[in-house]
Amino acid sequence: MHLGIIGSGHIGATVGKLWAKAGHSVLFSSRNPEQLAELVKVAGPNTHAGSIQEATEFGEVVLLAVPWDGVEEALAAAKLRNGAIVIDTTNQFSAGSLQVFPGGISALEFNARRAKGARVVKAYNTLTSGFLAKVAGRSGQQRVAMPYAGEDAQAKQVVARLISESGFDPFDVGGWSEAHFIEPPRRPGAFYGEEWQLDTARAVLGRLTGYQEKE
Ligand SMILES: NC(=O)c1ccc[n+]([C@@H]2O[C@H](COP(=O)([O-])OP(=O)(O)OC[C@H]3O[C@@H](n4cnc5c(N)ncnc54)[C@H](OP(=O)(O)O)[C@@H]3O)[C@@H](O)[C@H]2O)c1
Repeated sequence: MHLGIIGSGHIGATVGKLWAKAGHSVLFSSRNPEQLAELVKVAGPNTHAGSIQEATEFGEVVLLAVPWDGVEEALAAAKLRNGAIVIDTTNQFSAGSLQVFPGGISALEFNARRAKGARVVKAYNTLTSGFLAKVAGRSGQQRVAMPYAGEDAQAKQVVARLISESGFDPFDVGGWSEAHFIEPPRRPGAFYGEEWQLDTARAVLGRLTGYQEKE
């Protein structure tokens, strides 16, 4: 596939390199694309660098990997097509503090509403980039589960395949409401900041949704 990366820092560079290794064509973008020469050299011949809008035009799927406070500006520069598939890796830390949204909606829902018309799936946000790079591609019982959430079934199918090809077991936690389970704050026994394998991830989700129903 053709994949565009918006924000080629810790998480964008890491995921882009995993996708390139899996054989995809990746366009890393930056507000200063000339500064990405080293990344492109390391990531390999099926990668190149460009502007944020070029990443959107190139990508059948776009990875949004900018700091929370840069999301608005990045989305404006991206000019997403209607129906574009966007993987949202962001966590809602603004100037170091955790954001809470009106109505208690998830950060995924907040971003999906401002990325008007795009089909946003949240993934690659629960574990650090260094950890992801280290554990990608593990096999058998050691393979790491990657939780994801979103409202559009078809977009989620595409994202699940990309998660799998990047070396993790895709694990669907649900839609906008369930995205809370994969977002900060870190709650021991939930998904954000925790490593799970597929079987334990299923048990965790059962416990979290069961707990929610009793409330
Ligand atoms: N770091 C992790 O381990 C990790 C793990 C999971 C999720 N996340 C989440 O992923 C997102 C990115 O984190 P990161 O650690 O990868 O950040 P990072 O290393 O600082 O890289 C983010 C990139 O975003 C670009 N950027 C910054 N402000 C921008 C703006 N206003 N408009 C457009 N582009 C902008 C910058 O690229 P240019 O200056 O080149 O344009 C920068 O290289 C965050 O929301 C974070 O919460 C991070």
